[in-house]
Amino acid sequence: MSAAQQLRRGAIYAVSLPQADDFAFWRDRARQLLQCDVPPDRVAWVEPGATGSLFSHGRARLPVPGEGARQVRASKAFLQAAKSAICHSDPERFALLYRLLWRLQSAPRIMEDCADPDIRRLDELTRSVRRDIHKMRAFVRFRCVEGEEGVEHYVAWFEPEHHILRTNAGFFVRRFTNMRWSILTPRGSIHWDGEVLREGPPARKGDAPQGDAAEDLWRRYYASIFNPARLKVGAMLSEMPRKYWKNMPEAELIPSLVAGAQAREARMVETGGARFAERPATLEDIASGIAGCRNCPIGALETRAVAGEGPQGAPLMIVGEQPGDQEELAGHPFVGPAGQLLDGHLWQAGIDRSSAYVTNAVKHFKYTMRGKRRLHQNPAAKEIDTCRWWLEGERALVRPKLVLALGASAARGILGRTVSIASTRGAPIPLDDGSELWVTAHPSYLLRLDGEARDEQERLFASDLAAVQARLAELAQG
Ligand code: URA
Repeated sequence: MSAAQQLRRGAIYAVSLPQADDFAFWRDRARQLLQCDVPPDRVAWVEPGATGSLFSHGRARLPVPGEGARQVRASKAFLQAAKSAICHSDPERFALLYRLLWRLQSAPRIMEDCADPDIRRLDELTRSVRRDIHKMRAFVRFRCVEGEEGVEHYVAWFEPEHHILRTNAGFFVRRFTNMRWSILTPRGSIHWDGEVLREGPPARKGDAPQGDAAEDLWRRYYASIFNPARLKVGAMLSEMPRKYWKNMPEAELIPSLVAGAQAREARMVETGGARFAERPATLEDIASGIAGCRNCPIGALETRAVAGEGPQGAPLMIVGEQPGDQEELAGHPFVGPAGQLLDGHLWQAGIDRSSAYVTNAVKHFKYTMRGKRRLHQNPAAKEIDTCRWWLEGERALVRPKLVLALGASAARGILGRTVSIASTRGAPIPLDDGSELWVTAHPSYLLRLDGEARDEQERLFASDLAAVQARLAELAQG
């Protein structure tokens, strides 16, 4: 039976695509059908894996164009858009493209008609595919696994919305030419061994590793490039939608980085004399806020922030300068040598450390490298002042009756100005919330002394703590 006869009898031509994104195959079949004048409603385009009623129509063999069949016209703009739209996951895309190609033969300028529903749909498809391609380039995260013969192999899991894996492969080959890698997706996988790109079957999330040793580095890098001054949460969420977060190690930092940026913004409002913004509502908010805080250069050193510890409502708040090397490693304040000296003196004075709230004026460890050692550096006044946002937040939540500042940095953290230990120790300084500040030396200062000087300072320190204990007892009685 000739093609014309088949058509007259209402034949449906089913075209099964070998690949969901096979543009060349679609183009060849579309040209063939057009040359045989097969109208769009007589073609059923079938994706790989598709099932259903299409086959129940009874299919005719594709017609073959005769000699002198008409030329098919397609503008460059259409071909470009079609190449991209074919990667969309909409099962109707092949039919849409064929319908447009059909219409183009008699209306060559149709691509310029933005009000045409088919053109609008084509535009939606291409935009969505472009966006998915971009997201994959931005959000694929490789994890290192040991490959054959101990060679490192990087594996990433990604869930594209559309059939973009093959289109995007070239980008990853160019970008990671010297690595061996695999990208696994539910729609298929690609593998690069440094020379040859192979395609593989769809994968499951469990086939990909869930983390690796480099992840921490990646998180640190992300935190360091995060610019709080440029944070726009809405824009960030539209650029990096939540659905991608689960496969991105750095995404777990986002809530705390955002909290830190908001705190900074609030501080800017405050220092500008405008309305006070709300303070962090809980100590947990402060702990997560300081973790991502990069409001001063100490935060950019990428050490672990050390949060205050102790009961909310503690009558005594003890404030140190900043976590030291050991505190940073342990994640707790005053656990190193200075902490041990402090513990001894607190015990001697009859002050129970566990019923006090212990924190620092600055939440990150400031250091400089000497060989392999991290050497403590004093925080600058500006850094202490920047961190006051957090310390004041803690004070507002804990509401201690008495604050004990260990050293000049701690005193500045509370007062916002510099005072000398010698002129302030031994007597309370009233604070604006009705509590009082007592200032003494920092235990690290005692540790740096020896001989008589050390004995003298230990005696003064012990007597300051004894006065604090006596005052606490008085305050407790009301
Ligand atoms: N020095 C401090 O000031 N704070 C600590 O937490 C440890 C040492």
